[in-house]
Amino acid sequence: MNTIPQGLSGAASRRTFAIISHPDAGKTTLTEKLLLFGGAIHLAGAVKARGERRRTRSDWMAIEKARGISVSSSVMTFERKGVTFNLLDTPGHEDFSEDTYRTLTAVDSAVMVIDAAKGIEPQTRKLFEVCRLRDVPITTFINKIDREGRDPFELLDEIEQALALVTVPRVWPVGMGSQFHGCFDLATNEFLKRSPDGLGFGERIQMTGPNDPALEAHVPADVLATFREQAELATSAYPDFDRQSFLEGHQTAVIFGSALRDFSVEDLLDHLAAAAPSPRPQPADPRMVLPDEPAVTGFVFKVQANMDLKHRDRVAFMRICSGRFQRGMKLTQAATGKQLAINNPIFFFAQERQLAEEAFPGDIIGIPNHGTLRVGDTLTEGEVLKFKGLPDFAPEILSRVRLEDAMRVKQLRRALEDLAEEGVAQIFRRIDGTEWVVGVVGPLQLDVLKSRIAAEYSLEVGFEPAPYEGTRWIAAAKTADLDTFIARHRSSVAEDRDNAPVLLVRDSWELSRIQRDYPDLQFLTSKDRA
Ligand code: G4P
Repeated sequence: MNTIPQGLSGAASRRTFAIISHPDAGKTTLTEKLLLFGGAIHLAGAVKARGERRRTRSDWMAIEKARGISVSSSVMTFERKGVTFNLLDTPGHEDFSEDTYRTLTAVDSAVMVIDAAKGIEPQTRKLFEVCRLRDVPITTFINKIDREGRDPFELLDEIEQALALVTVPRVWPVGMGSQFHGCFDLATNEFLKRSPDGLGFGERIQMTGPNDPALEAHVPADVLATFREQAELATSAYPDFDRQSFLEGHQTAVIFGSALRDFSVEDLLDHLAAAAPSPRPQPADPRMVLPDEPAVTGFVFKVQANMDLKHRDRVAFMRICSGRFQRGMKLTQAATGKQLAINNPIFFFAQERQLAEEAFPGDIIGIPNHGTLRVGDTLTEGEVLKFKGLPDFAPEILSRVRLEDAMRVKQLRRALEDLAEEGVAQIFRRIDGTEWVVGVVGPLQLDVLKSRIAAEYSLEVGFEPAPYEGTRWIAAAKTADLDTFIARHRSSVAEDRDNAPVLLVRDSWELSRIQRDYPDLQFLTSKDRA
């Protein structure tokens, strides 16, 4: 059994994680309950926050609501039993895989939420693969066991087979659906009893084990008999939890629960506190950065423009990787050598922002700025370093932008640059003209872009398909080779927002011909942020 370590401080007390799930599995509900049990919000506050959120959401949030997805991502910090949790919200829709990918670079572990009736769904699998790519350890929460769901062993089998993870049951359901009576924490032998008036969580009763006769007073005989059989199998046929194996991404603890009815949410938090990793070493060029190094380092994984429309501010979300950050510190933007005094760093709590006086590895601070900081930026106390793994991906859908009011080209440029900075879309400008080409990974991004440009910049724009199948970043060992290529293909070359050359690809046949003709050039599908 894992116990929560006592007396933690600094980096060791941080658990920075994300929730990955398919839309509708219960991520939003679980997030609210984690905040609630983590003491970050009061019940009435949660309800109020929901109402307020609904009222203040702008147009593009309406798209989110209509399509039942979540497209904004943010950070929520809360503390419980001496552990500070930083929960990074990942957008749930496949259209936003780029943004999600970057968010997952900033976490040390993830909670995978699965709907007990549906099992592994496409988006769960996709996000899981991103986690695996980055060796992010996973804890599994099987949600909605208060409803009729699939057989628990069948669900474990599916996880093992689909994701090649070894499952270790930790909290088991006592009945499901109409027969649901509560949950049993196999690690602590606590019975989480259903409230007498319905399906809600009632009380937590200490037992000696699944065979404790005291359970008979709480659960009907037939449901209890099935539970005991299952618990016997769940503890004997599956391995014990091995933290090392979990950290290496081989094992996942499985917690059955109900976010809506409050079952197993605290058990999940206890498990994360005891087993989830504190900040891990971060790969960078030219060296690995360890969390216990004294000098402050961090990277920007997200930029959000217009969080507050009145101020047209822009907040860069920086994950601290090492050192003890203090407000007012001067940090150097590694890419430019520019020094920035970080005077107003923000912490994001459930309902409010607060000035961050100090922050430790694993913490996320928001840095308000006017466009200096960009996704992928490394900040240090002076050392020249570059954290790795925040790529741009070649977009698959390319569109021309049509501006209704031609007088407002400047504003359009501003809007496109701002939103490209956030990763809502990529922008390319053809070198032979003025045309903007917008690139996205999924079509929904165009809807979001259009609504946000209207809401935040008061511009009416439309999109028309551009005659390109994709883009490739062009790289060459010798500048002269690149110059020759650009001179010969001016009508097919554009620049991205970093002025890096990009080939606008008309079709795959043309691309293979160009690759054949220019063996000294590389045509890349992803680019590490400059
Ligand atoms: P998401 O962020 O992953 O998309 O899911 P969300 O939390 O919004 O939950 C999707 C639906 O599932 C919601 O119902 C929510 O109330 C329900 N749900 C979440 N957890 C549980 C659970 O443990 N048990 C049961 N029975 N339902 C659960 P909805 O009707 O779509 O929305 P709402 O009107 O209730 O907000």
